[in-house]
Amino acid sequence: MLVAAVADNGVIGADGDIPWRIPEDFAHFKATTLGHTLVMGRATYDSIGRPLPGRTTVVVTRDPAWTAGEYADQVRVAHSLEEALRVAAGLPGDVMVVGGAQIYALAMPHATHQVLTEVHQEPDGDTRYPPWDRAEWVETARDDRDGWGIVWWERS
Ligand SMILES: NC(=O)c1ccc[n+]([C@@H]2O[C@H](COP(=O)([O-])OP(=O)(O)OC[C@H]3O[C@@H](n4cnc5c(N)ncnc54)[C@H](OP(=O)(O)O)[C@@H]3O)[C@@H](O)[C@H]2O)c1
Repeated sequence: MLVAAVADNGVIGADGDIPWRIPEDFAHFKATTLGHTLVMGRATYDSIGRPLPGRTTVVVTRDPAWTAGEYADQVRVAHSLEEALRVAAGLPGDVMVVGGAQIYALAMPHATHQVLTEVHQEPDGDTRYPPWDRAEWVETARDDRDGWGIVWWERS
């Protein structure tokens, strides 16, 4: 499952951060991911700076020497997406790929579910959600809010 928040222009990040603040979306992200295993790129891990409580974290990096420093005992490290998915499959809950752009692009061909927050803004940014073919996906649920919404997709 991919979990992402995507602006109308495809932007998901700017300068190593997310270019909007929607507290209710953070609450949705927390509710969706609690108890599960998160696969994330090293850049996204750095932008958070610590493992998220109540979730198991697998970080993908090409750097054979990378560790999560003081959190090394709580963070699993993988050196390819395939390795990350294999490791994550043996860890608690579902496997949830939570970014960023490089890791979403690698994971998209493997994904059967996407939970996408649509952010109805056109922010400047340097990272974008990868292209995906809506014809291959079915919208199974939608929760529209003011200026944003959450959409659940399944591969058809
Ligand atoms: N809106 C959202 O939902 C959302 C979610 C997550 C992140 N973001 C934003 O996205 C941005 C970060 O995204 P990003 O695309 O720059 O980085 P990223 O995908 O988080 O991480 C990129 C890193 O992953 C590792 N990597 C990439 N391909 C790999 C491969 N084939 N094998 C092994 N390791 C690989 C490399 O780590 P090394 O350099 O260590 O080798 C690479 O630098 C930030 O702005 C963040 O805030 C937004």
